[in-house]
Amino acid sequence: MATVTFDKATRIYPGSTKPAVDALDIEIADGEFLVLVGPSGCGKSTSLRMLAGLEDVNGGAIRIGDRDVTHLPPKDRDIAMVFQNYALYPHMTVADNMGFALKIAGVNKAEIRQKVEEAAKILDLTQYLDRKPKALSGGQRQRVAMGRAIVREPQVFLMDEPLSNLDAKLRVSTRTQIASLQRRLGITTVYVTHDQVEALTMGDRVAVLKDGLLQQVDTPRNMYDKPANLFVAGFIGSPAMNLVEVPVTDGGVKFGNSVVPVEREALAATSDKTVTVGVRPEHFDVAGPDSDLGVEVTVNVVEELGSDAFVYGTAQVGGETKDLVVRVGGREVPEKGSTLHVVPRAGETHVFSTSTGARLSD
Ligand SMILES: Nc1ncnc2c1ncn2[C@@H]1O[C@H](COP(=O)(O)OP(=O)(O)OP(=O)(O)O)[C@@H](O)[C@H]1O
Ligand SMILES: [Mg+2]
Repeated sequence: MATVTFDKATRIYPGSTKPAVDALDIEIADGEFLVLVGPSGCGKSTSLRMLAGLEDVNGGAIRIGDRDVTHLPPKDRDIAMVFQNYALYPHMTVADNMGFALKIAGVNKAEIRQKVEEAAKILDLTQYLDRKPKALSGGQRQRVAMGRAIVREPQVFLMDEPLSNLDAKLRVSTRTQIASLQRRLGITTVYVTHDQVEALTMGDRVAVLKDGLLQQVDTPRNMYDKPANLFVAGFIGSPAMNLVEVPVTDGGVKFGNSVVPVEREALAATSDKTVTVGVRPEHFDVAGPDSDLGVEVTVNVVEELGSDAFVYGTAQVGGETKDLVVRVGGREVPEKGSTLHVVPRAGETHVFSTSTGARLSD
């Protein structure tokens, strides 16, 4: 069991001047499931590979427990990694694939067999131990790759998009299995994905990266409720938060005919004449047609999901025509072409500086 610390860890690839990972600072608790998430090229794999010892660290340090592992070779770090392309050995049985690392390490046959059987039981692979990988489904192969990591009983699991080879349905069930397995084993885990839904559903905490820079590290709840900046606000949540640039007025900011309250001090922090207001699709209330608050949305497209529906429309906000997404009940779906009067729910709005992106509301 161990904590993991990225202490201003930086990676600059040879030939590049800009760091791929720039002074990454995260402390991961013992037994925690931390998810690194962000768009392609933001430095997720590089961060993980630095922790694994597969990539040089050009600044700062990395610690596992009290050990400074910054310059230790991978084999001395006591970690096990599961990759996207988990490349099982095709000519070996499932059992041999799972036990291979232990065999290399010189562990005796009986002990290998025992550990493999234990892991197989946890992963529900017992009946496949004598099969070759090609006779397994994608999800089963994925579990064998997990098994290879588990039998080593490492201090830390590292996983880089381990589910991306699976179809959508299998991804959903496998992500639940991995999350519950991790909780059962209690092994500190760093998990990389570009999928924010996967991040929110699996992580104890989520770290959002952009251009090599850490944007926010927080619990899924806080990440969703209080995104630290415009980037996180737009990245976390699907459909994305509505973000609209609006003028600053007395005591707040104007969103259509509604005033979104913002503390005076928060607005004093910016000299901008406009700020960006964020409202999640589920945080609009539908008002009667006579309401003198909020905005009138012209309905362009309705996406029905059964339980609820997303209305994609346009509205006049801050003197411009803006696209808005509003969630409505599955049985209260408006007609295409009709208008829907919506009011941002008090206490559920977000205000950001348009120029710096920083969160202004508390
Ligand atoms: N070996 C390398 N040499 C030079 N630059 C690299 C190397 N590997 C990655 N990079 C660059 O570093 C940045 C971060 O890459 P990285 O692979 O960490 O991104 P990622 O977040 O894992 O993206 P993806 O979601 O596409 O896997 C990118 O700009 C990439 O082009
Ligand atoms: Mg990657």
